[in-house]
Amino acid sequence: MTTKIEQSIETARKLVADDKGLLAMDESNPTCNKRFAKYGIPQTVEARRAYRELIITTPGLNQCISGVILYDETIRQQKKSGTPFIRVIEQAEIVPGIKVDIGAKSLAGHPGEKITEGLDGLRDRLKEYFDMGARFAKWRAVITPGDGIPSRACIAANAQALARYAALCQEAGVTPVVEPEVLMEGDHTLARCGELTEELLRAVFIELHAQGVTLEGMILKANMVLPGLACPQQEDVDKVAEATVKCLMRAVPAAVPGVAFLSGGQSCELASARLNAMNIRSKGTRPWPLAFSFARAIQQPALEIWKGEDSEVAAAQDALLHRAMCNRAARRGEYTPAMEETFVTQHA
Ligand code: 13P
Repeated sequence: MTTKIEQSIETARKLVADDKGLLAMDESNPTCNKRFAKYGIPQTVEARRAYRELIITTPGLNQCISGVILYDETIRQQKKSGTPFIRVIEQAEIVPGIKVDIGAKSLAGHPGEKITEGLDGLRDRLKEYFDMGARFAKWRAVITPGDGIPSRACIAANAQALARYAALCQEAGVTPVVEPEVLMEGDHTLARCGELTEELLRAVFIELHAQGVTLEGMILKANMVLPGLACPQQEDVDKVAEATVKCLMRAVPAAVPGVAFLSGGQSCELASARLNAMNIRSKGTRPWPLAFSFARAIQQPALEIWKGEDSEVAAAQDALLHRAMCNRAARRGEYTPAMEETFVTQHA
């Protein structure tokens, strides 16, 4: 019989196989509503359900997407026809995953800093999600670069919470996607982001070891090393690729089966171009595949086309698939900006 640990190792491998990546569609209700508000989409359970149905029924999605990350509301929803979402995902041979943290809250005594919550009762919730069909999970910690922050306390508390979450996941046979994110908001330089990301990753792997997490049975979801959005100096794609690969090589153990980047607010095209450059630059030298686990950088164009209209579903699905295909090409080092120009939705 397969043990829980073997199960988490097997799923981790599956998630990064065949140059595919993850699609994060686990926006909490407030975040999803915020994205909907921008396009005048009703902020209702039904609109969120319809949007998620659009995503998971995209024809051909499984050519590029190995796993999708759901939210607690979504994992319990069904297609309009009544088929549970989780069955639709399994039938497409995509692995269902679930966000299990309950959000980043203010860290006591540390103004401007956050600690991710959700450990209480997590063992029971993981069991419930596993019984529903989820085979991997996600927990996101956020680190804000700023004046005098992050503090050591913030890094330590978040690293420990990530490690405790990961250990509980593996106990349940669920592969943990461990996501420590240095935010893009701010005017910090690329070099500062690199220093912070390295420090954070080192702290996380020390805690993962302390909590007895099997590295072969997890995925690291990392930020790319980027200059802050408000930093006057914005390095080119190659500089970003160089800094990111250098940082990961220093801090991520070779036993980790894969690194999947978050997009963090980059444009879709830049996220693909940077992933592509990293894959070209480090081919044959890095120990882990460099994949993607994007939310905005896959969904954004589709949401903009859909805007809540039934008549736009097929065109929105084309746009979603296009982004997923660009990112699969980027994993192979085969993405070119020309791919963007040649894309025309068949349903426009
Ligand atoms: P973005 O790709 O939009 O940053 O989202 C990834 C994610 O899942 C954040 O937790």
